[in-house]
Amino acid sequence: MIVDAQGRRFRNLRVSLTAACNYACTYCVPDGKRLQAAERELSGEGLVRAVRLLIAAAGIEKLRITGGEPLLSPKFDVFLPAVMALPLTDVAVTTNGQFLLRKAPLIVEAGLKRVNVSLDTLDADRFRHIARSGDLATVLAGIDAMLEAGLKVKVNMVPMRTANADQIVPMLDYCLDRGIELRYIELMNMGHLKFDARYERDFIGMDDILGAIGECYEFTRTDAPYDSTSIRYRVPGRGHFGIIANESEPFCSSCTRLRLSSNGLLYGCLSNARHHDIRDLLEAPEHLALMRLQSVLTRALGDKQSVFTGEVTVMKFIGG
Ligand code: 5AD
Repeated sequence: MIVDAQGRRFRNLRVSLTAACNYACTYCVPDGKRLQAAERELSGEGLVRAVRLLIAAAGIEKLRITGGEPLLSPKFDVFLPAVMALPLTDVAVTTNGQFLLRKAPLIVEAGLKRVNVSLDTLDADRFRHIARSGDLATVLAGIDAMLEAGLKVKVNMVPMRTANADQIVPMLDYCLDRGIELRYIELMNMGHLKFDARYERDFIGMDDILGAIGECYEFTRTDAPYDSTSIRYRVPGRGHFGIIANESEPFCSSCTRLRLSSNGLLYGCLSNARHHDIRDLLEAPEHLALMRLQSVLTRALGDKQSVFTGEVTVMKFIGG
């Protein structure tokens, strides 16, 4: 097992099935840009092979399927059942929820246990303003379908001063009522936001988020697993919520994440644009592929930063 000086190793793999997305969220892409599939994307089978090899070479235990929007890609139908059969302790999907209803039979049949839905507001007009697409009611119906099928649902919300600050409490009401864990994600200094004054304008830190919640709910901080990105809070008698506090309380020193883009690039760190192309390697015979992966993984682990400074890396590519 490859371990770095801070004791970090790769345990969690995030695979982006496609860079394409049916939304164009303000925090993800610059105005007017819609995400396209990357050039030379790997097939569903190619991505499954990559996961199998990474389990063997890096000791990956947990897998998260991301995008772009993973449910948009036909690869999802191949990839999900295949990875559910691999020796992983946990498989989860991060989705914008627009196709959840349509994919519910496949998801249930494959035996997926967890899904994270990105949802920033419960106001339909605001929703279209932030996502520049999609339909709120369809997403909510998708969430209901997952809950009815017995899946554990988490919702990710990115609070932004000028877009949805007033939704911090209503979103929590909605989630607590349904046994959903809401996770507030501090706006990240990623992609186009890195050079945009809107980042400073819209950023809402953990203290302000907790301040808003504190007006309506009592809560206490609880323990979270060692390599969790989220700080968890318990609302007695109601449930939990979390905050992913990149800026206020960075978690780089315990990061165990490895990311694979849809076109076969491995990223060791979200705050570092360096990447390693494993497309050719995937064509090699098993023993050779595993050997070459070892040296790639050592370099990728070396890419991990000690603090999150943000990057121009585009989120769509590596799905957060
Ligand atoms: N800051 C914070 N969260 C972001 N996401 C995408 N871009 C950003 C950003 N700049 C989130 C989405 C989704 C997850 C995959 O990443 O809202 O929940």
